[in-house]
Amino acid sequence: MSEKPRLTVLGTGYLGATHAICMAVLGYDVLGIDTDAQKIAALADGKVPFYEPGLPEMLRKALDSGRLRFSTDIAEAAAFGDVHFVCVGTPQMKGSPAADLTYVDQVVTDLARNLTRQCLVVGKSTVPVGTADRLTQLLQSVAPAGSAVELAWNPEFLREGFAVEDTMRPDRLVFGVGSGWALGQLEAAFAPLLESGVPLVVTDLPTAELVKVSANSFLATKISFINAMAEVCETTGADVQQLAKALSYDSRIGGRFLRPGLGFGGGCLPKDIRAFIHRTEELGVGQAVSFLREVDAINQRRRQRTVDLIRSQAGGSLEGVTVCALGAAFKPDSDDVRDAPALDVARLLGDEGAVVRVYDPQAMDNARRAYPELVYATSVADAAAGARVVALLTEWDQFREIDPTWLGDIVESKAIVDGRHALDPVTWRAAGWDYRALGRA
Ligand code: UDX
Repeated sequence: MSEKPRLTVLGTGYLGATHAICMAVLGYDVLGIDTDAQKIAALADGKVPFYEPGLPEMLRKALDSGRLRFSTDIAEAAAFGDVHFVCVGTPQMKGSPAADLTYVDQVVTDLARNLTRQCLVVGKSTVPVGTADRLTQLLQSVAPAGSAVELAWNPEFLREGFAVEDTMRPDRLVFGVGSGWALGQLEAAFAPLLESGVPLVVTDLPTAELVKVSANSFLATKISFINAMAEVCETTGADVQQLAKALSYDSRIGGRFLRPGLGFGGGCLPKDIRAFIHRTEELGVGQAVSFLREVDAINQRRRQRTVDLIRSQAGGSLEGVTVCALGAAFKPDSDDVRDAPALDVARLLGDEGAVVRVYDPQAMDNARRAYPELVYATSVADAAAGARVVALLTEWDQFREIDPTWLGDIVESKAIVDGRHALDPVTWRAAGWDYRALGRA
């Protein structure tokens, strides 16, 4: 096998597209595969089908190098690749907290049918612990090459908005492997990163699967911890911002992921903790992570509490009240609206009769598709026109920089709920605004 293995990336969504593009930029020959012909055509044409800063430039570079190609033909992938990365989604199942493994099972089966020589299949998707063992059996029983096909697990920790940075300079690499040969293949596939000093942890398959869900569980717990403190602050007159700041100077605690506010959303944290709870219960160790139910519940309560604040700013009822909702994406620098707290709040406001005018710098199309019943504005000014309450729900820089005097002249009433602790209360109050935020007196 060549020193530089030829790579395929199966599934060119957020994770897969970024991985395929970055690996080609790092010097590998890469073939990206997806069943969605439109997505493949867009990528081949140099267009990234989602918003991610820096990625379009990297795609251009990768395509120009001639090392990156895209196709919908999985048989081509099987013939081409030495190392195949599985990057398809594992969304939450409808009507159940469990992860839906349909796409993973399908792509592994389709690939296996075409594998006629020794190669390594590497899972990157976030899966319930034990999946890799099951997939190994599936692979080796379906593949014509049988046990010459091995499976490894290489969890991915990339954050939306920082996808390029997290792929090119990850905090660590985790290789879950079952043999020295598999380890050698992965070392060859990540040689430039390892040479640049990225720490490597080599584990067995179940540990590698668990690293990812436990990392996301820890991050979710940290966010819910500070939001739980915000709840206590609300009834004691304390200030959660100052509390978080004081905690952050303790190097054992640290300040990252300790930002209070509307809580976490997105395509990973919420569904990963639910799938983890579900999986541990299946395994009979549910009690070990039962605190994650509380983490989820605290997070959901932030959304309702934000609606309560907005209602109180509106004078006790939302019926017929125009609310300007700034933000739809689950976080800034992303157009992703999966389990977005901002849109959940907008929906809840709408349920109580408010007229919600939403504006987001990037997520408008996705938001419109998910919640067609809301009103979508063309700018901050358009969203704020005649609003009784302004709600800042996603902390885009564009919203942080709003001049309170300018906005004050557009709205009907100068009442604002800062769901993300993104604004300076002193400045806004000085400009005549009634400023409220979760966890602040
Ligand atoms: C997350 C993990 O960080 C990443 O390692 C994993 O691979 C995928 O899931 P991502 O979903 O892109 O990444 O977003 P992240 O930056 O982790 O933020 C998640 C949510 O938490 C956002 O809604 C964000 O607004 C919220 N958040 C984050 C807080 O409410 N407070 C914080 O202090 C940090």
